[in-house]
Amino acid sequence: MSNPPIPTTAKPKNTIQSIADRIKTNQITRIIVLTGAGISTSAGIPDFRTPKTGLYDRLAPLKLPSPESIFHISYFSHSPEPFYAIAQARHPTTLKPTLSHAFLALLAKKNLLHFLFTQNIDGLEEDAGVPAEKILWTHGNWKDQHCSKCKSAYPDNMMRKAIRAGDVPYCLAPKCDGAIKPDVVFFGESLPEEFDEKVKLIPEADLMIVMGTSLRVAPCSGIQRMMGPGVPRVLINMERCGDMGSQDGDVCILGDCDEGVSEFAEALGWGDELKALWEEVVAVKEAKAKIDGNGGEDEDGPDLDACIAKMAAQMDERLGISKGHKKMLESHLSDKFARMMAGSRPAS
Ligand code: OAD
Repeated sequence: MSNPPIPTTAKPKNTIQSIADRIKTNQITRIIVLTGAGISTSAGIPDFRTPKTGLYDRLAPLKLPSPESIFHISYFSHSPEPFYAIAQARHPTTLKPTLSHAFLALLAKKNLLHFLFTQNIDGLEEDAGVPAEKILWTHGNWKDQHCSKCKSAYPDNMMRKAIRAGDVPYCLAPKCDGAIKPDVVFFGESLPEEFDEKVKLIPEADLMIVMGTSLRVAPCSGIQRMMGPGVPRVLINMERCGDMGSQDGDVCILGDCDEGVSEFAEALGWGDELKALWEEVVAVKEAKAKIDGNGGEDEDGPDLDACIAKMAAQMDERLGISKGHKKMLESHLSDKFARMMAGSRPAS
């Protein structure tokens, strides 16, 4: 006689459909989202760490002390040129929100977005319609700029002009020669003051969604672990990251973010609404870019690799001049030395 089945208390594993069902039945109403560069790659901004296509590999021609140096405050304070050389190709004026940004806006529209922590500085979440009060730009954004030395404000129109030209803008204050820095958080700088306040919202949430980030940069990399016990987490990313997928309630949709949010939206019955919202926000951004004079032929912005190659050539040229100068001095000195040794008067 066979033994009777042992009753199991194990909870069934979450799936994207079971999470969607809990949203549809109002069991999930407060969603915290953490995003990174992967949600903007389909808008044309490369992420940082994906081998070959990511910005950090592509910076190799600049021979920086490390790829991250370009965003390090101490490197910027003496060499702001590389940052401005690539700023033009990463500046958001011509960029349009992706389907992933529209998904965030839809969550907000349905009053489900408790809060969004974004590591991105492109501002595309707001362009897509996420209310600014629901967003913390943990690494700052391009909205304002100040002198890196005296902290004086700098006019928007002059900043835009400098970025478009790939030039370093310098402070207008008398006797200050500081380079202007957009209000983005560089390595070596503090996060916005609101960070500590806003992380207090995380334990109130009943779902965490992590999208398009490698979770390699603290303190944002810790956000995924600040949830209350048993709260489900959804990862929508090309690859696994952090400890996402290690907890019972976790669901991972691995692959392209825009496809991942489409799958999620279909499970929620929002597929058509998402697409319609996305088309609308893209059209609005295109129209705005035309009014601001950023549409037209160059609307995709300059090519990143071309900007890097141009900067690398300028740096090589400068290095060439200083090498040439050093060589000239060395030969001049050895000539002087030879004359002295020969007892003749050194040439001036
Ligand atoms: P990373 O480049 O480190 O990670 C991007 C993640 O998104 C990777 O896991 C990619 O696999 C994934 N990804 C890329 N494209 C994707 C796509 N289309 N669909 C789905 N996933 C995709 O970028 P972040 O994690 O945002 O900080 O980087 C964090 C911080 O490091 C940045 O804010 C920046 C950087 O240095 C500063 O500069 C201060």
